[in-house]
Amino acid sequence: SEGPTAVVQLEIKEDIRTALLTINSPKTLNALSEQIWSELNAHLLNLEKDDRINSVVVTGVGKAFSAGADLNQMKTNKFPNVYFNDYFERDWYKILPSFRKPIIAAVNGYCFGGGLELALMCDVILASENAKFGLPEIKLGLFPGAGGTQRIIRQVGKSKAMEMILSGEMIDAQEALHFKLASSVLPPDQLLEAALKLAKKIGKLSKVAVAAAKMAVNYSAEAGLSEGMRYESSMFNSLTGTKDAKIGVEAFLSKQKAKFVHS
Ligand code: CAA
Repeated sequence: SEGPTAVVQLEIKEDIRTALLTINSPKTLNALSEQIWSELNAHLLNLEKDDRINSVVVTGVGKAFSAGADLNQMKTNKFPNVYFNDYFERDWYKILPSFRKPIIAAVNGYCFGGGLELALMCDVILASENAKFGLPEIKLGLFPGAGGTQRIIRQVGKSKAMEMILSGEMIDAQEALHFKLASSVLPPDQLLEAALKLAKKIGKLSKVAVAAAKMAVNYSAEAGLSEGMRYESSMFNSLTGTKDAKIGVEAFLSKQKAKFVHS
């Protein structure tokens, strides 16, 4: 699906059952243009159905993961076209939040605005030592419009979320780790390797169990505790009937390595 002008590179790493998506538009710090979003969405739709792939890693080329919405494109926005097209919700982020396979953001540099919102829709964020995270929209007379206000608070808590959203000031990788935005911080040259290693680890496990686990965890953002627990237990009960659960338990008891069949 990669044409000569594609800006999102797709690499299928079949040996580790992982797809690597790289945003390659360094001249604009990987600002999220319509083209980048439609390529990302098209890749994700294909990858969801691709049996070779169990996990996905997303990263950026150069000194940014992504500097957010493409401001050259955004400057032409007017209320009617944005409203009737549901600019961000429907066109941009329609695939990622419900993508069933694990997706790891390897944040290699600036991760701003829509770029941070993209990372927040991924399942795990790994940060390079030189990553910078921010929601600078307020400096443009706007505020985060693609999940930023709703998702960041669940990661960093209200005080830090408000500080970031109201001041637009960025935080560095260590602060992102401290506030649980990233799960670990790595030297720049080890970031991708760490992301692929994690993807490989997850990729070896039962695809069914991994997808169900991801859905159950994400459900906690939508539901109260008792509803979430009901969902969890019904998913858990269903999983006990899968071939993979039988394989996994039997392998443990006979001290063998489980060979999952993903059903
Ligand atoms: N859109 C379009 N172009 C962008 C861009 C963006 N979001 N961010 C950076 N660029 C371009 C710059 O215009 C510049 O282009 P030229 O070389 O042609 O001048 C190039 O990328 C390099 O950028 P800088 O010279 O600014 O690089 P820097 O290292 O000095 O600064 C930065 C890096 C701090 C990330 C700075 O570029 C910056 O603040 N960018 C804007 C970030 C921003 O406001 N993002 C929010 C967008 S709104 C949004 O995302 C809405 C939403 O919620 C969905």
